[in-house]
Amino acid sequence: MPLKAEENELLTRTGPGTPMGTLLRQYWIPAIRSGALERDGAPVRVRLFNEDFVAFRGTDGRVGLLDEACPHRGVSMALARNEENGLRCIFHGWKFDTAGRLVDAPCEPEARRERFCASVRVSQYAVREAGRVVWVYLGQGEAPPFPDFLFNTLPAEQVCIRRGVVPYNWMQGVEAHIDSSHVAFLHRGFLGEEGPIETSTRDNLAMMMQDTTPKFEMNDTPYGLQEAALRGLDDGSVYARIREIVMPFYTFIPGPEEGPFSARISVPIDDETSAEWYILYHPTRPLSEEAITTLFHGTADDPDNFAANLGQPEHLWGQDRAAMKNGHFSGLTTNLSFEDFVVQSSMGKRVDRTKEQLGSADIIIVKVRRLFLEALKRLGTGEAPWRTGFDYASIHARSVSFDGSEVDWRAFTMKETV
Ligand code: FES
Ligand SMILES: [Fe+2]
Repeated sequence: MPLKAEENELLTRTGPGTPMGTLLRQYWIPAIRSGALERDGAPVRVRLFNEDFVAFRGTDGRVGLLDEACPHRGVSMALARNEENGLRCIFHGWKFDTAGRLVDAPCEPEARRERFCASVRVSQYAVREAGRVVWVYLGQGEAPPFPDFLFNTLPAEQVCIRRGVVPYNWMQGVEAHIDSSHVAFLHRGFLGEEGPIETSTRDNLAMMMQDTTPKFEMNDTPYGLQEAALRGLDDGSVYARIREIVMPFYTFIPGPEEGPFSARISVPIDDETSAEWYILYHPTRPLSEEAITTLFHGTADDPDNFAANLGQPEHLWGQDRAAMKNGHFSGLTTNLSFEDFVVQSSMGKRVDRTKEQLGSADIIIVKVRRLFLEALKRLGTGEAPWRTGFDYASIHARSVSFDGSEVDWRAFTMKETV
């Protein structure tokens, strides 16, 4: 059943005071790469959930996140001086430390300055660096336990994390990450050609091609959902691709069983722009160039926006009809990631879900929307809708083939995670 217009609004509006904005702010969010911030260097603008912030790194290496507008009279703190562990507004010299506290207001008489500083209302945000990314908590009250996913704990050479800025609503990103049935179509062009794709990834795609009408099964978990796409292989065995969806926006996508593994996070910048965080990681060894190339071949050489060269709608994002004639399915020949970004972009900035006509292969999309809408109904009860503080490091998507007459796919999931 298509969504009602008001449900689409609920799912896609994330500004301050909106139900979804309030819900998402209860979770840790990747905000900016650590490498983008220099000690005592220029503050960097960060836009999240329709709000403007600046991030900066102090003299001692700590990172702070402040509202972009100075609490005094609204001057942009992106213009501020970064000096001695704080940002000093260039208008009247108010200075804020990395915790967001006002520590100096030099225009105020010295005798009452300290008291004055303490009386000024400021927004303070919890910040944490992990996996070479600055994460923030924008919600009310104390931050929940930090999500120590495996990729947040590995050495640098075992993780590749990049951000793409894309012109569509965050929910379109989430729905692409959880949609298993598109893989054998949209990404088919990367099968069997000599393109820059890792061999084990191609093997996985080849198995998906053997059955393009997978059966979907799901498992509710306290943190979200496990989804299995089950395909019958030519040799009679079952090939299961098992996604882990850690609500509200962290998705683990099955790749080669021996690694590397993939995770995606779709974060609202505003309601028509999102940050797609793409994470590739190997639990035990450095990532190969080949693995990185498979995901990022031909993308912009900018780790803060690898989608900068995605192309434009008026040119159909550079779709190559000649390549299609020669066997490439989508004609979007840059890489797998751009195939996803282009189809999502082509739906429009905030797709109208009241017009959709869904089929049985969309069961996971329907389920996740329902999880969100139900969680929104419970907002304000004081309880986080999905569990936090479990063993994040054991979350791990799987792709396995097995004798389906003897085993169930659930035998391969991480029961010990919660
Ligand atoms: S506006 Fe920032 S100190 Fe006055
Ligand atoms: Fe995809």
